Amino acid sequence: MRAAANVLLCLVGLLVGSGQGKHVIERQERAVPYSATVNDQPVVGILSQELSYLMTQNYGDDGYDSYIAASYVKFVEGAGARVVPIWINQPVEYYETIMSSLNGVLLPGGATWFNQSNGYAEAGRHIYDIAMQYNDNGDYFPVWGTCLGFELLTYLAANGTEHRAHCSSSSQPLPLNFKDDFRKSRLFARAPNDVIDILSNEPVTANFHQFCVTEANLTAYGLDEDWRVMSVDRDWNGMEFISTIEHKSYPFYGIQFHPEKNIYEWVPNKNISHTANAIRASQYFADFFIGEARKSEHRFANEATLEKHVIYNYQPIFTGLKRSSFEQCYMFQGNYTGESSPVGEDERMDNSSSLSLVSLTSCMLPLLTFFFTFVPHVSLGSLL
Ligand SMILES: *[C@@H]1O[C@H](CO)[C@@H](O)[C@H](O)[C@H]1NC(C)=O
Ligand SMILES: *[C@@H]1O[C@H](CO)[C@@H](O)[C@H](O)[C@H]1NC(C)=O
Ligand SMILES: *[C@@H]1O[C@H](CO)[C@@H](O)[C@H](O)[C@H]1NC(C)=O
Ligand SMILES: *[C@@H]1O[C@H](CO)[C@@H](O)[C@H](O)[C@H]1NC(C)=O
Ligand SMILES: *[C@@H]1O[C@H](CO)[C@@H](O)[C@H](O)[C@H]1NC(C)=O
Ligand SMILES: *[C@@H]1O[C@H](CO)[C@@H](O)[C@H](O)[C@H]1NC(C)=O
Repeated sequence: MRAAANVLLCLVGLLVGSGQGKHVIERQERAVPYSATVNDQPVVGILSQELSYLMTQNYGDDGYDSYIAASYVKFVEGAGARVVPIWINQPVEYYETIMSSLNGVLLPGGATWFNQSNGYAEAGRHIYDIAMQYNDNGDYFPVWGTCLGFELLTYLAANGTEHRAHCSSSSQPLPLNFKDDFRKSRLFARAPNDVIDILSNEPVTANFHQFCVTEANLTAYGLDEDWRVMSVDRDWNGMEFISTIEHKSYPFYGIQFHPEKNIYEWVPNKNISHTANAIRASQYFADFFIGEARKSEHRFANEATLEKHVIYNYQPIFTGLKRSSFEQCYMFQGNYTGESSPVGEDERMDNSSSLSLVSLTSCMLPLLTFFFTFVPHVSLGSLL
């Protein structure tokens, strides 16, 4: 993939400077940029991620070092957009170039540390900064974070300060506890009433996370000025966490739960709701995000250039057969050389009650604390 990435850099290099459309924008003080664009051929980037612990065990020998879970790809495709994978471990120029042709970026969930060098969070930093620049210039550009991606958004907004709390919300289906003014948010302002009824009353949101962002810390870290909280939920121990959030002046959105799992993930024993209502509510989030992407004017220079980048160049593999909680993943051979990743969301658990390493699932697992607390004799080496 190194060669492929180099080719890709050359190709998109030709596009620099041509991707920035002109926009009819009315800027208001601290308001989200207005966009009159309707782009019915949206193309969304999905950030790849270093392999998790289980994936490194199962696939590391095959030379893979980054991946995208296929459910995120389907989530975007199922709402009417095409997907381009975004690589980790690239120079900032790569992100500038690729984003100049994309209509939005999805930061997926998964399992990795934010401090890992050349990984997900570093790429996220570039993407976040570039997306802010676009929007500051009136160039509408949405960013969506799911689970770990949501946590990454607030982490980046806090300038890379860790502010998450440990919590316990794995295999936990929950309704959303909406704030009184949630209808004033962009994410929910035009949501159909039946979708709101489902989300408010039925345990349809699929939670798999062991970090939570709390309202207390949103305030403590100065993030509440820029971010609006639309709903909160409680983990297995009753700890309250933010479940939906949006930026007040950029089209940036974060959700702690996993709508793509309701529609596309079938691992047993995770209590992921597949009811018709769960699917309807989950699809709302995909439709909303792609609706935002339709407001972006960026384009690839031509169809042939897009074809070089689109995810169709890669084939997903059936990772569910090897205990991953992702049925399918796109596995990439890159040049990523970082530390191994922690255990996380990708682990398929046959056995939710047994407290083994691989049975702990989350979109980001604070495993070391757990380990040093409960299993002090196990060395770091055997863990990572
Ligand atoms: C990985 O790829 C990037 C972009 O092509 C390059 O700048 C970097 O030097 C590569 N890293 C390694 C360790 O080969
Ligand atoms: C990254 O964070 C994890 C969890 O806090 C910690 O255990 C690890 O040592 C850190 N790694 C680096 C390179 O700082
Ligand atoms: C992050 O850094 C920027 C630039 O230094 C600053 O304007 C902003 O207030 C900081 N935000 C937080 C939440 O610390
Ligand atoms: C706030 O963030 C800190 C990390 O800075 C974390 O240790 C703590 O648990 C968080 N507290 C709450 C209430 O979210
Ligand atoms: C799955 O979640 C539902 C809704 O919270 C709950 O009623 C049910 O008991 C759970 N099933 C299992 C097997 O945990
Ligand atoms: C659950 O774990 C136990 C102990 O590891 C094992 O014997 C059992 O077969 C597992 N059950 C399933 C359904 O995998």
